[in-house]
Amino acid sequence: MGYEFSDDFRGKVVIVTGGARGIGREIALAFASYGAKVAICDLNEEALKESAQDIEKSGGESLFVIANVVDDKDVQSVIDKVVDKWGRVDILVNNAGITRDNLLLRMKEEDWDAVLAVNLKGIFLMTRSVAKVMVKQRSGKIINIASVVGVMGNVGQANYSASKGGVIAFTKTVAKELASRGINVNAVAPGFIKTKMTEVLSEEVKKRLMDNIPLRRLGEPRDVANACLFLASSLADYITGQTILVDGGMV
Ligand code: NAI
Repeated sequence: MGYEFSDDFRGKVVIVTGGARGIGREIALAFASYGAKVAICDLNEEALKESAQDIEKSGGESLFVIANVVDDKDVQSVIDKVVDKWGRVDILVNNAGITRDNLLLRMKEEDWDAVLAVNLKGIFLMTRSVAKVMVKQRSGKIINIASVVGVMGNVGQANYSASKGGVIAFTKTVAKELASRGINVNAVAPGFIKTKMTEVLSEEVKKRLMDNIPLRRLGEPRDVANACLFLASSLADYITGQTILVDGGMV
């Protein structure tokens, strides 16, 4: 057997949450460019439609579902629609995430709850639903998008870093539970990536960040997508429960 993996994704069924824009959109396009069938779900209907069209343009089949990952009924409808259309789910990328930054002493309870709900409960609900399908198939790859701040902490992000640290711990546990069923579960922890989420940072903050990145640049969504392709490919069949940091050497 050679080391070629680009054919691994032809005809494979992929779900990407939060796939309407940013990193999720790039991940969806990356799988589609290798011939995968890609379903994206998101709250943002307009961007969702546009991204689904771009997936088709890049040569893949697409499906978009308006869904809130915090709502179990929505989550189930995503899985049902994908299975109705394509009969299976090979790869799930749990990417949907939000920030509501503030210093601990000023952090509102609703901002804590919102971030923990989308970033952590959303991953639990999606993973639980998809796992039922993957267990029957006896195969599957699940990739959770965490963050370096879940490893190192960050001022102003008590809610976000707690949620992302939770994602890393969840990944380790679910990997152990599902390994005997042929399902690999890993996480990717991006550093600072150029998207709408980080666009709001001031030039001063960006400069300070850059000083702490040995590779001396912010990451691109593509850098994160590349790690997802690797983890979802046969090259990573013997890797489970791990977190790959895609952070330019920051941590
Ligand atoms: P983004 O804000 O550009 O995109 C996130 C997408 O998720 C949006 O399309 C949004 O509508 C969707 N979404 C939010 N809440 C949702 C919900 N309840 N249900 C369904 N969809 C929902 O963010 P970005 O930068 O692309 O981030 C993607 C992931 O990467 C997130 O999990 C984020 O925490 C993580 N990340 C991003 C970093 C960065 O520097 N941009 C660094 C580390 C992690």
